Amino acid sequence: MQAAAKNSTEIASAPNRAVIPIRHMDFKFDPNEVDPLFFHNAELASAYFEALSIFLTFGEDLVIDTARYHRQFVTDPELKARVTSLIGQEAVHSKMHNAFNDVLAKHRFPVTFYRFLATQVFDYGFKRFPNPVQLSMMAGIEHFTAVMAEFFMNHDEVFFETQDEKQRALWMWHMLEESEHKDIAYDVYQQLSGSYSLRMIGFVLAFTTILFLVPLGGVLIPIIRRPSNLFRPSYWKDVARSTGLLFGPKTGVYGSSMGHIMDYLRRDFHPNDHDTTEHLAYYRELLLNPETGLLTPYMTKEFVPPVRAS
Ligand SMILES: [Fe+2]
Ligand SMILES: [Fe+2]
Repeated sequence: MQAAAKNSTEIASAPNRAVIPIRHMDFKFDPNEVDPLFFHNAELASAYFEALSIFLTFGEDLVIDTARYHRQFVTDPELKARVTSLIGQEAVHSKMHNAFNDVLAKHRFPVTFYRFLATQVFDYGFKRFPNPVQLSMMAGIEHFTAVMAEFFMNHDEVFFETQDEKQRALWMWHMLEESEHKDIAYDVYQQLSGSYSLRMIGFVLAFTTILFLVPLGGVLIPIIRRPSNLFRPSYWKDVARSTGLLFGPKTGVYGSSMGHIMDYLRRDFHPNDHDTTEHLAYYRELLLNPETGLLTPYMTKEFVPPVRAS
């Protein structure tokens, strides 16, 4: 099911007013259950997503801090409550990915080193940028997570190739919520800034970080795990296959999403131009049904922030 791009003026004139829930989860990850070939049985591409899991927590912390600071300037009560939902959802994502990353550390992944690198990039870099740039980065990061979420909602077969149920649940839950809140950061950005050129700066910074993770996350990890891999044809076969899985123009995560990624460059772009309403209804049922939902065993509570007239 492909999400359809809709006429932007038609959607943008009808802002989303639904306040989305903050769901608390507890996956109780176990190092013995982690599948290092989670993504299509490809080591390099799987390692890319493991590195992404580490960097995502830093990106989410930036989104949380930026949203928290700018929430005070948002005057629309519904949007303000939605910002609270964004902060809450990202806080639980960061917490759960950190729990997963702690387990990765026991699983031949240099988590401490990657956290050190991410600290240099985010805490000593991006988080020291002026507030308007961080606001633009927040919108840029949320654009890329929305693109990824839509890709995975269109290709959920990837989650069922593995027996690792908890990693599957983690990524599917994250996918659902990134799509649920994909327009909030953008609406805040448009309300408080709206500058096109500044929005492009956030886009470039977010895109560069994601691309920088490919050599760092994917290519390096199999070599760190086993340096002799460099001389093995199987490693180079995996490099070729994984590159296709990430950048292949027809089915690659980023390659096939290039139109959606670049749509952000349109001056009148809005995240809801890419309609995921049907996807969300389908995945809420698949994941959250009280009896059969894939996330139901892991969800501990749910909270919907109230709308308060300010
Ligand atoms: Fe997130
Ligand atoms: Fe997000």
